[in-house]
Amino acid sequence: MAQPRVLILGAPGAGKGTQSSKIASEFDVEHVTTGDALRANKEMDISEMDTEYDTPREYMDQGELVPDEVVNAIVDEALTQADGFVLDGYPRNPEQAEELEEMTDLDVVLSLDVGEEELVHRLTGRRLDPETGEIYHLEYNPPEDPEVEDRLEQREDDTEETVKERLRVYRENTEPVIDHYDEQGVLERVDGEQAPDEVWEDVKATIEDAA
Ligand code: AP5
Repeated sequence: MAQPRVLILGAPGAGKGTQSSKIASEFDVEHVTTGDALRANKEMDISEMDTEYDTPREYMDQGELVPDEVVNAIVDEALTQADGFVLDGYPRNPEQAEELEEMTDLDVVLSLDVGEEELVHRLTGRRLDPETGEIYHLEYNPPEDPEVEDRLEQREDDTEETVKERLRVYRENTEPVIDHYDEQGVLERVDGEQAPDEVWEDVKATIEDAA
């Protein structure tokens, strides 16, 4: 496999962003992330698509899914430009999974499995460096440089109330997608509750085995 086409699934806070950055650099593939793409276009006017709200921000701030039409277009464009990729944040419901099947084949489908209590703890403690985009955690992975620590920001949807809604939306919409890949016999489950380096060892080995 020259450049693998990897799909990484998991609940909010399961570590998809953390592991996807490593996959992108180790296997020299594009990191295609709908969350980052939508955050960069939060104020985009989507009213012409006959959506409930006029911008992605209104959906994201409440922990709801942005309409499929918006997200499908983002992923379609990104995947056409990439030979290999790690896809993070999509598909999030069965309709998006059907769209993805039309867009591309996949070499590896990974699921990072983490329990709900740990997910809430990870998300409410997550902080981002706005200058480098690096992901930290106040307890598990704090920055060593005090200058970096001073400029850390919390994501707007990482408050406890929004996190609970994101997890509800995940259970209702995205778990069926994971079940679908599981039933097809293509799902590779990784224990996401281990330390980040241990998760990475399993993720890397799983992708290499699929080569
Ligand atoms: P998105 O940005 O995709 O968020 P998410 O899926 O909720 O996932 P997160 O980014 O919160 O978590 P992660 O799994 O990447 O964890 P991370 O590595 O950061 O989506 C945001 C919103 O955009 C959605 O709510 C929706 O509105 C919209 N959207 C996006 N895609 C969409 C789609 N397809 N359709 C419709 N709407 C869409 O890690 C979390 C924390 O834990 C960090 O602090 C990290 O340091 C720490 N950590 C990571 N791994 C470990 C470990 N092994 N041990 C201890 N700590 C760890």
